[in-house]
Amino acid sequence: MPVMKGKELRIVGFLCNWCSYGGADTAGVARAEQPTDLRIVRVPCSGRVDSLFIVKALLNGADGVLVSGCHPRDCHYSAGNFYARRRLEVLKRFLPVLGIDDARFEYTWVSASEGQRWRQVVASFTSRIHALGKAPRLGEDAQALLKAVGTAALPPPPLRTLGTGKNAPLDSLKEAIKEKLPELECVIGWRQGYDAAHTTPLFIRKTEDIDKLVWGPLNVANPAVYLPRFKGGKTGIVVKGCDARSVVELLQENLIAREDVTIFAMPCEGTLDMARVNEKLGRYAVVDGVVRDEAGVVITVDGKEHRFDMAEYAQNKCRGCVNPAAVLADVAVGGAPEIPADAPVPLELGLLDAMSLEERRAFWSSRMKRCLRCYACRNACPMCVCRDHCVSDTRDPHWMTQEADVAQKLFFQTIHALHLAGRCTGCGECQRACPVGIPILALRQQTARAVEELFSGYRPGLDPAAVPPLLGYETEEQNIHEREWK
Ligand code: FES
Repeated sequence: MPVMKGKELRIVGFLCNWCSYGGADTAGVARAEQPTDLRIVRVPCSGRVDSLFIVKALLNGADGVLVSGCHPRDCHYSAGNFYARRRLEVLKRFLPVLGIDDARFEYTWVSASEGQRWRQVVASFTSRIHALGKAPRLGEDAQALLKAVGTAALPPPPLRTLGTGKNAPLDSLKEAIKEKLPELECVIGWRQGYDAAHTTPLFIRKTEDIDKLVWGPLNVANPAVYLPRFKGGKTGIVVKGCDARSVVELLQENLIAREDVTIFAMPCEGTLDMARVNEKLGRYAVVDGVVRDEAGVVITVDGKEHRFDMAEYAQNKCRGCVNPAAVLADVAVGGAPEIPADAPVPLELGLLDAMSLEERRAFWSSRMKRCLRCYACRNACPMCVCRDHCVSDTRDPHWMTQEADVAQKLFFQTIHALHLAGRCTGCGECQRACPVGIPILALRQQTARAVEELFSGYRPGLDPAAVPPLLGYETEEQNIHEREWK
């Protein structure tokens, strides 16, 4: 392999100190001829390589990234490379979602004595990156490409009939809460918001608060986001099916204790897409009434009636929901709806699936331009539990700059999506909270699908005893195989 003097591309290599860095050294001592594109960053162990190192490099101008560590079972910290293997494999499947060719990233194992193997790995990876050429930058040709993508995707039909909660046994739920309230510090639910067409969280501390509880398709927020704040106290929570999955995931991660939480469950009949509802209502002075019937909701504002049929105005996440009843409950009120076997592909997932890499890059460039970096998506997420220690806020290390460019904004969303890999229960609160309507749930759904494929159908939030796959490993992974270097 000739040295590519004067034609180097930018390739970043993260090498573990104990094996691969030694292997690179062995190749150097043996004067093995190697391409000169690689810039090596020495790390203590491949387990130290955060997926965000790689995404940050690729979003900031690297043409390729290579990670190399000790062979499986040889890690000097026992299991660092086992954890890295799972994380890096998920990343490999996630990069194309952002419009980055996954061939631009690779990970492998090289021991300190394998100078020849190291030479082969570097030569092979460098040739691959040269064949791909310089990495395209975000935003290049975005407008032209977007015309090809189109934006008029229609929501899929609902999987089952979505109701309005009209016949939900709210009185039975209130009775159950009344009975348990003396043992609890608080019960979290929903109440009417600033008007009858909107709801807001309700914290029931006294018996008289119970009458403020409401139920129906306007209960869009996920109350599980408040649960960790009550850690240590006895708390109750009223849940829809998706909220219950978030509670289970919090239990899985020991962020709350099972004995401290009382779960009150009602079977969910779907919730409204409030962004579209608000758009149709427009500016108004007063809500005259909200009436629910079998098909939907009629909201009258300033004397004018607006009809919202659930078949048309339900949130996309509700259309394919297969867990409308809580997977875990202490008090379950009402019967569980029947679920047909085949769930449709969620709208946002299908939208990205239909795009090429170039179109996805253009798609995210145009959508992320609108991002305000308000962090509403993070704050609404029940699984985003770092709060004051979020890496996007830290100055040491300084992960993100204050620049308002597309790369920074997309990097923030990548942080969120990758931190939720194997943890996101798909409640869609991030997307609902976004004030500028960026379809960020698609990033989480794509990651969730990668996790499901890699880890034997694992879905977060279904089993309180299950360990999230990226918090564990297997010495022999069923679906992760080392790639050959030719
Ligand atoms: Fe090399 Fe852990 S020490 S991979």
